[in-house]
Amino acid sequence: MTDTLNAGARPVTKPSNPRFSSGPCAKHPGFSLSDLSDAPLGRSHRAAPGKAKLAAAIDRTRAILGVPDDYRIGIVPASDTGAYEMAMWTMLGARPVTMLAWESFGAGWVTDVVKQLKLDADVRTADYGALPSLDIDPDRDICFTWNGTTSGVRVANADWIDDDRTGLTLCDATSAAFAMDLPWDKLDVATFSWQKVLGGEGAHGILILSPRAVERLESYTPAWPLPKIFRLTKGGKLIDGIFRGETINTPSMMAVEDYLVALDWAETLGLSGLISRADASAQHVWDFCESRDWIANLADDPATRSTTSVCLKFTDPNLPADFAKRVAKRLDVEGVAFDIASYRDAPAGLRIWCGSTVEPDDVAALMPWIEWAYRAELAA
Ligand SMILES: Cc1ncc(COP(=O)(O)O)c(C=O)c1O
Repeated sequence: MTDTLNAGARPVTKPSNPRFSSGPCAKHPGFSLSDLSDAPLGRSHRAAPGKAKLAAAIDRTRAILGVPDDYRIGIVPASDTGAYEMAMWTMLGARPVTMLAWESFGAGWVTDVVKQLKLDADVRTADYGALPSLDIDPDRDICFTWNGTTSGVRVANADWIDDDRTGLTLCDATSAAFAMDLPWDKLDVATFSWQKVLGGEGAHGILILSPRAVERLESYTPAWPLPKIFRLTKGGKLIDGIFRGETINTPSMMAVEDYLVALDWAETLGLSGLISRADASAQHVWDFCESRDWIANLADDPATRSTTSVCLKFTDPNLPADFAKRVAKRLDVEGVAFDIASYRDAPAGLRIWCGSTVEPDDVAALMPWIEWAYRAELAA
C-alpha cells in the first residue's frame, strides 16, 4: 500500500551493494582481498602447492555441481569463451550440427561455426525474448546457451534433449552454473567462467566433458588446424593431465585462489542454497514488474525467464531511444545500481544480475529506485 501511495517518491534505503553487473558479477558477501593471501604467487603452477590448488578447484567444482565421476573437468584458457570455442573447434564437423541462438552470445557461436569453421549448420534463431524451436534430430550435434545472458531467456529444462541421442550437446552454461540445476546426463559439454555466478575473476574457463565427448575427441580429427591452446588430445588420446589441473599454459594463481575462496562461501550454502538465492532475487524483480504496466520482463514465456540475468523492457513504445540508458545512468550516479543498462546488442532496457552472490534484499531495495528513476526521467 505504502509502495503504491508513494510510487515514484525518492526511496530512502539503498541496496547495501550496488553491483548488479552481469559480468564480472558481484563478489560473494563478505569477500575481502586479504582472503587471497594464501595464493602461491611467484611459484610455478606445476610445483606441489599450485598443483594442489588447481586439483582442488576441479574436485570441489565436481562436488558442488554434482558432476558425475566419469565426466572430466578441465581448467582452460580464455574464460568461458575459450572453453566453448575449444569444444566447438575440437568436436564439431564430425556430424551435422544444429545451432540454437536467441541472443548475442549464442549468435557469436553461430558466427564461429558458419563463418570460421564453414559448417553447413542448421541455424535456428529467435528474437530477443523468445526461444527457437527445440525440436531437434538427436543424431545431430547441438550447440546452445543454457541461459541467454543478454536476453534473459533460458531453456526451462532439458527434456527436449534425447536420452538416446547419438549427437553431442555443447552447452554454454556460463550464466547458469551454480544458479540453476544442470542435468549432466543431457550435457556432453558444459562450459562456464568464474566471473559469473560465483563472482570470481575472468581469465580461466571450465570445460566439462561427458564420456561421449571424450570419445569424440579421441576418434575424430577436425579438418582445420588447431592452435596449441585448443588442443585436448595428443596422438589420438585425451591429454589427461589437463583434467587434473595440469593446465595447457600458465594460469593466474591469484584467480585460482579467488575461485577457491568463492567455493568456500558457496559450500556453506550448497547448490540448492545458491539456486534459492538467485530464485529469490529474480522473484523480487518479477513481482515488481507484475504490479506495474510500464515495465515488463523481456522474456515472453514465464517458464523461460532467467533467474540470473533478468532483462526488462519499458513498455511505452514512444519513449526516446536512450531512455533506458538514462534511467541506468541516474541509478549509477546515485550509487544505487551499477552496470544495469541492457547489453549493447540487446533491445533497450535494464538487465539486473540476480546470480547467487547478489543479496536478494539488495534486489528488493533496488526496485523502488527503478520506479523513482523512471518517473524522474519521464519528468525530465
Ligand atoms: C552466455 C555467455 N557466453 C559467453 C560469455 C563470455 O564469457 P567470458 O567473457 O567469460 O568468456 C558470456 C559473458 O557474459 C555469456 O554471458
